[in-house]
Amino acid sequence: MFSELSIDDQLDELGMNLDVPFVPTHENIVKAMLEMADVDADDVLYDLGSGDGRIPVAAALDHGARAVGVEIDAGRVALAQAYATQMGVEQRVCFIQDDLFEVDFAPASVVTMYLLHTVNLELRPRLLSELRPGTRIVSHAFDMGDWKPDRKRSFRSDALFLWIVPAPVAGHWHWQSADGTRYRVELEQRYQQLKGELWINDQPAELHNALLWGDLLELVIHDEQSYGPESIVMHWRGDELVVVGEYLKGVVARRVGG
Ligand SMILES: C[S@@+](CC[C@H](N)C(=O)[O-])C[C@H]1O[C@@H](n2cnc3c(N)ncnc32)[C@H](O)[C@@H]1O
Repeated sequence: MFSELSIDDQLDELGMNLDVPFVPTHENIVKAMLEMADVDADDVLYDLGSGDGRIPVAAALDHGARAVGVEIDAGRVALAQAYATQMGVEQRVCFIQDDLFEVDFAPASVVTMYLLHTVNLELRPRLLSELRPGTRIVSHAFDMGDWKPDRKRSFRSDALFLWIVPAPVAGHWHWQSADGTRYRVELEQRYQQLKGELWINDQPAELHNALLWGDLLELVIHDEQSYGPESIVMHWRGDELVVVGEYLKGVVARRVGG
């Protein structure tokens, strides 16, 4: 029989300070989450609300990653630790018994979550400001409101969402090519969505597209000197953008205003 109590009331009755009840992710969905985030041996994965530890253990076992589970329930932390030892990955996996709202997750290169929509929204400002640009976030079942995912995968009764933490690239940027051509671009940003305007030698020019993928920015511009649109791929480094693609390679753009 279904309980008529809300999730919050059920959790209060259990006497636990849980923001989300324990419902494990099915093994096939765990596999899909780790594939979606493209987890490998260089990654440090944080599972926020790690339950029985299945996501951190699978990240270490199947992808060679280091992984941290954050879980408020001491009993589940003990079980998760025992599971990691049983699977032989205790050197690469650890569990922190703490509130996910209090823990420093900035070292993560991948964050996984199976929480609730409201919890995702509460976490969103910290995910955006504390994680490094380029960090992948995968959420099982719940989205992030108006921060649209970079990718979504649907299963029969389930959905997975992937976000790449976007670099803060809003502002005015300028750079000069080897032949002395001066470029200036003004970018407006909402999460990973960009709008912008371009000037070449102080004349308005066509900015066909501005795309952001973590710390990589692609500007598709129409330069009078080229036959068609050119793609400039730049790597964000704070107040500098370093061109890494072939076109204008090595040029550095600098931010001149917010
Ligand atoms: C839906 S389960 C997901 C478990 C695991 N990540 C998975 O996908 O199989 C959510 C987990 O979050 C834990 N949790 C709830 N509130 C928490 C909080 N404030 N801090 C840390 N963990 C919390 C619960 O105890 C539960 O184990």
